[in-house]
Amino acid sequence: MPKKIFKLGVLTSGGDAPGMNAAIRSVVRTCSHYNIECYGIYRGYEGMIEGDFKLMEARSVSNIINRGGTILKSARSQEFRTPVGRKKAFDKLQEAEIDALVVIGGDGSFTGAKIFNEEFGIPVIGIPGTIDNDIYGTDYTLGYDTALNTVVEVIDKIRDTASSHNRLFFVEVMGRDAGFIALNAGVGAGAEEILIPEEDLGLDRLLESLQRSKRSGKASSIVVVAEGDKNGKNVFELAKYVEQNMPEYEARVSVLGHMQRGGSPSCFDRVLASRMGVRAVELLLDGHSNLMVGMKNNKIETVSLEKAIKGSNHIDKELIRVSGIMGV
Ligand code: F6P
Repeated sequence: MPKKIFKLGVLTSGGDAPGMNAAIRSVVRTCSHYNIECYGIYRGYEGMIEGDFKLMEARSVSNIINRGGTILKSARSQEFRTPVGRKKAFDKLQEAEIDALVVIGGDGSFTGAKIFNEEFGIPVIGIPGTIDNDIYGTDYTLGYDTALNTVVEVIDKIRDTASSHNRLFFVEVMGRDAGFIALNAGVGAGAEEILIPEEDLGLDRLLESLQRSKRSGKASSIVVVAEGDKNGKNVFELAKYVEQNMPEYEARVSVLGHMQRGGSPSCFDRVLASRMGVRAVELLLDGHSNLMVGMKNNKIETVSLEKAIKGSNHIDKELIRVSGIMGV
């Protein structure tokens, strides 16, 4: 028989993502629905080590569903990577009598949660929150949809200048190891070329493609480059390389950076967060642990934390093909 849960802790960890607040709200209100206490743990694992906890009730999460970032704040904790740090965190949870955790974050946060569970037996459930969408076991991570909309909106604006000045724009988007944002926002914003870590286009092919577009009458072009692309050049070097080989083009670079992580979550992210939060708490109450809540084919499903951490979310090859056809 799994131990009955009376007090649950919720934390956000790693890079913030729009929709994290909606997920916190969902966890807190689900706890309230089932009459169990819910503690917000501030600054991720850092706050767990320091015992930075606050009791949250249904009204503590009023008016946050529409807010970006995370009211619980986030951190990438170095100390929690050490056994000493984790023991301190466990002692603080014991003092507060918190007996289960919901961790909202990415694979680094889940790795911490899994190790912590193995060492101390505290049940944990993960909710995937990262704009990168690079987590196995879910079609969407929290924040990804919002980030896509932000990127598309910004590229639409950049396009105005690109076409007014007949320029070639290189737009770098986030995605340390994954090209989901680049590929989907690139197709959505009508980019001519999209460079992602999962597919090495090769610099020669990029030049060929831009030259073909130029010959076919295109006066301006937008190339979306994922931050983690592995072509061997950073986005500024890439722009210079293309300018040297195609002097007819005037190239500019825009690095979108952290603006992609901020802002009010899309309706999609708010609904997803609400659904995931409910399931996360119910899983803990039903005695489950070491699982991540995900959404597959519009159904809330679970996958082991182990698989979520080790597996990789594959890029859609069909979308790469579509992007090739669109970029003529
Ligand atoms: O993992 C999310 C992410 O936004 C990546 O796309 C990006 O590379 C990274 O976080 C940036 O992290 P930080 O805010 O710590 O610089």
